[in-house]
Amino acid sequence: MCGIFGYIGSKPASSILIAGLKRLEYRGYDSAGICLVENQELFNCKSSGKIADLESKILNAKLPQATLGIGHTRWATHGEPTEINAHPHFDCKKEIAVVHNGIIENFQALKSLLEKEGHIFASQTDTEVLSHLIEKFYSGNNFEKAVQEAVEVLEGTFGLAIVCNKEQKIIAVKKGSPLVLGIGDKEIFVASDAAALISHTKRVIYLEDNEMAMLSTDGFAVKKFDGTIIEKEIQELKWSVEQIEKGGFEHFMLKEIFEQPQAIANTLRGRLSSNGVKFSFTLDPCFVKRIIILACGTSYYSGLIGKHIIERITGIPVEVDYASEFRYRNPLVNESDLAIVISQSGETADTLGALKTAKAKGAKTIGIVNVVGSTIAREVDAGIYLHAGPEIGVASTKAFTCQITALILLAVYLQQNKDDCWVDLNFLSQLQELPNQLQEVLSQAEKVKNIAQIIKTSTNALYLGRGTNYPVALEGALKLKEISYIHAEGYPAAEMKHGPIALIDENMPVVFLATKDETYEKILSNMQEVKARKGKIFAIVNSDDTLAKNLADEFIEVPFAVDLLSPIINVIPLQLLAYYVAVSKGIDVDKPRNLAKSVTVE
Ligand code: G6P
Repeated sequence: MCGIFGYIGSKPASSILIAGLKRLEYRGYDSAGICLVENQELFNCKSSGKIADLESKILNAKLPQATLGIGHTRWATHGEPTEINAHPHFDCKKEIAVVHNGIIENFQALKSLLEKEGHIFASQTDTEVLSHLIEKFYSGNNFEKAVQEAVEVLEGTFGLAIVCNKEQKIIAVKKGSPLVLGIGDKEIFVASDAAALISHTKRVIYLEDNEMAMLSTDGFAVKKFDGTIIEKEIQELKWSVEQIEKGGFEHFMLKEIFEQPQAIANTLRGRLSSNGVKFSFTLDPCFVKRIIILACGTSYYSGLIGKHIIERITGIPVEVDYASEFRYRNPLVNESDLAIVISQSGETADTLGALKTAKAKGAKTIGIVNVVGSTIAREVDAGIYLHAGPEIGVASTKAFTCQITALILLAVYLQQNKDDCWVDLNFLSQLQELPNQLQEVLSQAEKVKNIAQIIKTSTNALYLGRGTNYPVALEGALKLKEISYIHAEGYPAAEMKHGPIALIDENMPVVFLATKDETYEKILSNMQEVKARKGKIFAIVNSDDTLAKNLADEFIEVPFAVDLLSPIINVIPLQLLAYYVAVSKGIDVDKPRNLAKSVTVE
């Protein structure tokens, strides 16, 4: 979390920084700030609140027309989201300014030491130790060396952009938090995410851990922390500016929900044919005795569905673990395990940590990632990109359905490599039907909007499903919690009678995933149980199903799909429901309170 943007070139930096920070606002939006370098002086402007607040403050701040500057949008970890705690942070003499993404774990010890030496701290942040630490090592003409020395004593994770009043230079430093350089014509950018660079340049360089880059109008140099120079490859971004705009939709989230037919077609494209599935990597499925899926948040829920998919198609046992739990429980892993890590951003700190743990214990690794060139994508042995396009709304939508699609492709791939003859043509053609089926569901958005008006006044909601649709219930509940702030729980429907049934009365909306599969009859019984207790039933049902429709107070019709594919269809109305509830409550759905899209801290 937190977004960094830096610019050095010949144009006015301030507006470039603001535009860059707006692109990064999904990473944190509780306070923001910029610092410009002009005539050997540092000028800054900070504000609590969103980038728009900072922008209006800058208008009255009388900042110089500098062509060099750094900016930051914050997701608070240490210290409240106040103006004082907003980045950039300075040293005592205001010669050094630092913006930071990550956590300095030994900041308390460093702060005490620096305070004893006479440094005066203004904020409660961990970041401020950095500017004072650089000050300690800085003697007036050794900016780069001082940064190197400071970085060496840091523990934790950091993406940094640092400026010094005496130098026309930005130093970018990476350990654990993402940083990418954008190479323009006599201008260079640095950002936490390549998506923020697209409107300026498509030529980028991803920094690796323990690397620092010195950026000036003459060019750039990348070095290891020990000073060794590194040759870096310039990569070409494939995303377009249109993809990161709202394209006529009111919110990114709505746009991304509606993009799902296309996004899934993109995940399938070039990989699926009547002969089965093709990937550019080779993987010998014979070594795989067990699969472990590791992820966080929505990606974890797609992993839960992946377990059903992979076990059913390949017969290989699958475990699914929260990345944050896996990495700290000394898990039993060996060389015959395959770890699949799932991450939209490819930067989630816990997922990255779990990936490293699995690798260290000998597992082979596959990443299912959306953001091209992200850290997880670079660390895995083999990868499947979703090709879903940038996902900017904080609540994940299209990444979820594309992740499930990718898991299906992977399962088919593993199975066909185990057994040359295995290709279920019927299943593959149903898979190709998904984009059309999703279009059909999306055409009912207005109906979902009306149902949202009934749910918006509730304080709780229960989501129930079974089998592959139990994780869909979890995801539906998560969406509602995240963006509408209504407390919601997802439960396996049969477990309702072991506790949640006590909550059911006429004020409790219960959302049922009631499409036809093996446990359909049992779901109908659960609906009866809720009805008998006067709960309000909102059901996702197949179009031809009168039984479930009769039991529901309100229903949304979806086309039939086999249970391994139905989660991709059934989750769409739940995404729309959460969206319309949140909009009708006046919540900023793309930036709900306290959340961040890319969680780069533990
Ligand atoms: C955050 C986001 C979620 C996301 C989770 C995992 O919590 O708000 O939408 O599911 O991180 O992110 P990842 O990028 O690893 O899929």
